[in-house]
Amino acid sequence: MIDKATIERIIDAAKIEEVVSDFVALKKKGANYWGNCPFHNEKTPSFSVSPSKGIYKCFGCGKAGNSVKFIMEHESLSYTDALRYLAQKYHIEIKERELTAEELAIQSEKESLLALNAYAKEYFSSILHNHIDGKSIGLSYFRERGFRDDIILKFELGYSLNQKDAFVKDALAKGYKTEYLYKTGLAIEHENQPPIDRFRGRVMFPWISLSGKVLGFGGRVLDARTKGVDVKYMNSPESEIFSKRNELYGIYQAKQAIVKADCCYLVEGYTDVISMHQSGVENVVSSSGTSLTSGQIRLIKRFTSNIVILYDGDEAGIKASLRGIDLFLAEGMNVKVLLFPDGDDPDSFARKNNANDFVDFIEKNNTDFIQFKTALLMKEAANDPIKRSTLIRDIVQSIAVIPDNITRSVYIRECAKTLETDEQIISSEVAKINQRKNFENRQKAIGELYHKEHLAAAENAGIVIPQQKKAVENATPDSKRAELECNILRCLLRYGMRKMGICDENGEEIYAGEFIINQLAMDDLTFSTPVCQKIYENYCLHFKDKKDDTVIEIKEYSGPALQEGETEDEKYISYKKTNKTAQKIEHYFFNHPDEEISNFAIQLLTNEYEKSRMWEKRDRESNRNDYEDILNEAKRVIFDYKMLLVQIRINHIKQQIDIACKENDSEKADALLKEFSEEQKTKTLLSKELGDRVVTP
Ligand code: CTP
Ligand code: MN
Repeated sequence: MIDKATIERIIDAAKIEEVVSDFVALKKKGANYWGNCPFHNEKTPSFSVSPSKGIYKCFGCGKAGNSVKFIMEHESLSYTDALRYLAQKYHIEIKERELTAEELAIQSEKESLLALNAYAKEYFSSILHNHIDGKSIGLSYFRERGFRDDIILKFELGYSLNQKDAFVKDALAKGYKTEYLYKTGLAIEHENQPPIDRFRGRVMFPWISLSGKVLGFGGRVLDARTKGVDVKYMNSPESEIFSKRNELYGIYQAKQAIVKADCCYLVEGYTDVISMHQSGVENVVSSSGTSLTSGQIRLIKRFTSNIVILYDGDEAGIKASLRGIDLFLAEGMNVKVLLFPDGDDPDSFARKNNANDFVDFIEKNNTDFIQFKTALLMKEAANDPIKRSTLIRDIVQSIAVIPDNITRSVYIRECAKTLETDEQIISSEVAKINQRKNFENRQKAIGELYHKEHLAAAENAGIVIPQQKKAVENATPDSKRAELECNILRCLLRYGMRKMGICDENGEEIYAGEFIINQLAMDDLTFSTPVCQKIYENYCLHFKDKKDDTVIEIKEYSGPALQEGETEDEKYISYKKTNKTAQKIEHYFFNHPDEEISNFAIQLLTNEYEKSRMWEKRDRESNRNDYEDILNEAKRVIFDYKMLLVQIRINHIKQQIDIACKENDSEKADALLKEFSEEQKTKTLLSKELGDRVVTP
């Protein structure tokens, strides 16, 4: 990590015209430099470099950015490496970023927990191999189960003594802190009592992370004690370092074999994993009793996209498999299922078979999810048309989650064949499901981006937007909405910190930014385009309260006459405003480390020559009108946007009314009509604000 101050120093030093001219022949024309674009083939220069903005921009291919971005693109370097390149060019010493006190504390706490777990693993394993109880109870248990010594060592199994605080005492004597004993869950806390061991009289299975760290433990009671004990396995609790839901037991021991086989077997338990290793099948992991999560699936996906679920054939196993299937499909993985028959599980099966036979058996008996579901339900469904259609719908649901088009269509064909159904029907059902899902996802994504401040502001203002209303707006994927959102952002970034010549009831000047932010909050509005929302949130975070009171000074343009091929930009660039905050905002966004943000901001603020011309002209001609122009602009962008949303809702309500009428549902139609007239009222209010300008979606 390069620290922030150094990054800022590099960006400041790396003059765009100097950086670019190492690679592109530049000619000065007016305020800017021009050259042939290095990113696409051209004969006449459309690649411009603006020293005052610190950016390059090609009017041919649209590539744009600051000096870091230029080096990234031109030299195919990462962000950090581009910074290093520039640091070298400008002889700036790079200081790696120092961690903050808080980050240091978190990091060192994590390390302490891992160190304690590593010690505990050694301790339990040493007890297993050296202590009289460990040998006579723990080790003999493993031997009875048929675990070989090499496998016991490979999985670093151990034993915890059946005493109140054997481990705790040992660890404290070694200098480990009580606090960490609690945080790892190795010790249990009772009020006003010294810590006691969580694991007592259990054989111990350490969970090892991909990189070999000990994250936690599972401890199994011994057979003799299983009766009457309802917790067969005790696991480490969730902690800073252990989230059972997102880990897979055995991943450390399996990862190489998974890559080699390009396939991963998923089993239910610790002992399944261990027995399979012992029989020679090593590409196996366990979700260990929790239902599968997408975190676990992604862990597997780093090594392979082929998975075979090996579960017990009992009801729990079937249910778990069914749940797992859709999750794997949704992550774009190829999933097969094999349920073991007759009370066998991978553990028992592995003990009876060698690796070759085991793998053979899996290859012969696994089924894809369509065959699996069909076989499962066909027995009852064969002669029952209703059950049959439920089955088809169920399979269609699974097919719909597959992200890849081609894979999806292969399964659609197979499903049609297996179930003797029309392919067309299945395919249109799948499409329907996905349309609905897209709609929901979109809403969810927007919901997640949703700014807390907005919620608070809307709540303060007592404004509640019915969910229905938002859903309709958000579902509209129109480019018009995106365009209007850009207008709002542009106005905000440009003029947010400027006065508008109006005051609130306390006589305080209202700034354009405040006006825009309040207007959005008032109606509980967010941006539907994710990057717009990101920029907006960044703005609120850094510039919300920034105000600019400097007088606007406008210098007359004094450059040479405009030549052919020159853009309007150059002509107006010399109208310098002493508006420091505006420059800061531009600087902040143009140099933002999130490329999506910097790219978008540059496009947003440099792509509007035509539109801004009139504006700049008025700016120049009369300072008197400045406030009024900003007020008008801010109102225009906001009310245009609100008008569009109202119109979208109105259109939607009209459709609903149509449907209600056709269905003779007069109650619903009445309710809709009421909504309709409410929206019409809003529309009228907005029309007044906007004058006669009307936007239609
Ligand atoms: N499990 C758990 N806590 C329990 C029961 C089960 O965490 N109280 C997890 C363990 O990871 C276990 C897996 O669920 O390995 C499967 O449970 P089960 O089939 O009961 O255990 P096995 O691994 O088969 O263990 P054994 O063969 O020793 O009975
Ligand atoms: Mn078992």
